[in-house]
Amino acid sequence: MKEPHNKLFSINSYPRVRMRRNRMHKFSRRLVSENNLTVDDLIYPIFITYGLNKKEKINSMPGIYRFSLDRLETEIKYISSLNIPAIAFFPQTENKLKTSDGREAVNKNNLVCEAIRISKKVNPELGIICDVALDPYTDHGHDGVIIDNHIDNDKTLEILCQQSLIQAEAGCNIIAPSDMMDGRVGLIRDTLDKNGFINVQIMSYAVKYASAFYGPFRDAVGSSINLSNKSKNSYQMDPKNSDEALREIELDLNEGADMVIVKPGMPYLDIIHKVRENFKVPTYAYQVSGEYSMIKGAIDKGWFDEEKIIFESLIAFKRAGCSGIITYFAPYVAEILNNRKI
Ligand code: PBG
Repeated sequence: MKEPHNKLFSINSYPRVRMRRNRMHKFSRRLVSENNLTVDDLIYPIFITYGLNKKEKINSMPGIYRFSLDRLETEIKYISSLNIPAIAFFPQTENKLKTSDGREAVNKNNLVCEAIRISKKVNPELGIICDVALDPYTDHGHDGVIIDNHIDNDKTLEILCQQSLIQAEAGCNIIAPSDMMDGRVGLIRDTLDKNGFINVQIMSYAVKYASAFYGPFRDAVGSSINLSNKSKNSYQMDPKNSDEALREIELDLNEGADMVIVKPGMPYLDIIHKVRENFKVPTYAYQVSGEYSMIKGAIDKGWFDEEKIIFESLIAFKRAGCSGIITYFAPYVAEILNNRKI
């Protein structure tokens, strides 16, 4: 009797709990995985530009292009074929159209409105998200208008409402205010509702930090020259703060936001987690241009395994609590997911 008892509790059976058991086989790893990345999680940003027959490289974002409108159809078809649920348009406005009040933002035939119409014609099912902010249109590169040397919140709001309305009229599904002015979500909601667009969604860039990670994006839309060395600190959030992020989210939700964005992504995973825990609302990360370029740059140098680093960077957002991710890697990831047997 003694022997089996001893065997059962012998030192050889230590450790009794082996965390590696569940990890030992692929089938088991699949069974125990807590999070998964699917094509449904992806939003793809597309840069559009003026002129004809352009598919321009962006120096600071290898592998990403700006498309002129006549080249957009092919890209929309490609993204649709990958079954990516939604895209986000970002325009590079011709310099001569940039003004101090960013009035091109409210031109019904501006690049974004034209792009929406093209995309809806090619594939009405593809969700379209449009930024609302003035920086692609202002000659000073700020997201709002400048009055008496500062960014005027309330004057900017009037323009943002108009910008949202023309985008909705052109067929945009989701209005995404990225300007960080106070009170814009409520006023945009009112404007949309008053004009019959009760079902146009608002995905608010509720938590947007004043970040150096936007550098390559500003090259892509051509606003870095305009902005020069001025900072957006008077409206974008201070990276030192986190409780403040929860106030931003709460305000935007109360004003009628349907979904919220935290931006940038990877350096702010703690914020994403807090937002999701506190509010339980659809929460998105923007894996911004600087994150893309950092990862892509290292891949191109041969320092990272491309597939592994990209998937790891994206599953982190799911684990933190994201419903989806705005990412320049969307087509790359969708190609792989669509071709995976398991
Ligand atoms: C504009 C806007 C920015 C980004 C999205 N919308 C830049 C900024 O605020 O300066 C950044 C996206 C990226 O870096 O990929 N309001």
